[in-house]
Amino acid sequence: MDMEITLRVDGREHRLVVDTRTSLLDALRERLGITSPKKGCDHGQCGACTVLLDGRRALGCLALAVAYEDTEIVTAAGLADGDGLHPMQRSFIEHDAFQCGYCTPGQIVSAVGMLAEARAGWPSAVSSDPNAAEVDLDDAEIAERMSGNLCCCGAYANIRPAVADVARR
Ligand code: FES
Ligand code: FES
Repeated sequence: MDMEITLRVDGREHRLVVDTRTSLLDALRERLGITSPKKGCDHGQCGACTVLLDGRRALGCLALAVAYEDTEIVTAAGLADGDGLHPMQRSFIEHDAFQCGYCTPGQIVSAVGMLAEARAGWPSAVSSDPNAAEVDLDDAEIAERMSGNLCCCGAYANIRPAVADVARR
């Protein structure tokens, strides 16, 4: 069944007709030509398709496009402010936190969402005190909280410092 929907992506509205089974990732990439979210596994396992949905990170390949009308969808490209890079984008460049770059948009979006979760006090599987008001984002916390984003190039040694640098600011 087809359905006409409006998606608001990186501040711009797009009206389109989609099959109701279309994933948000396919709607963005195949229908709207927004290629910043990448398709890695298409099964919710790699994190390459991560976007922010009303500020919370989510996997575009596991989301149905029709469920996200009236939602603020932000991709890695939309994090920039015109020509001004988002601090997380700048930090990835400064720390050389990528090789091929395929996972990078998802890593950056996920890191932005993760910092918001940590600021809100969300515990993780390695949090020593799940009731602590503040999360100390040490290397173990960052590794755990970013574990949904795989990097086939193995650039983790630079990704974690890039995220930690922004977390400390
Ligand atoms: Fe969505 Fe891999 S493409 S998690
Ligand atoms: Fe190549 Fe991460 S930089 S997959």
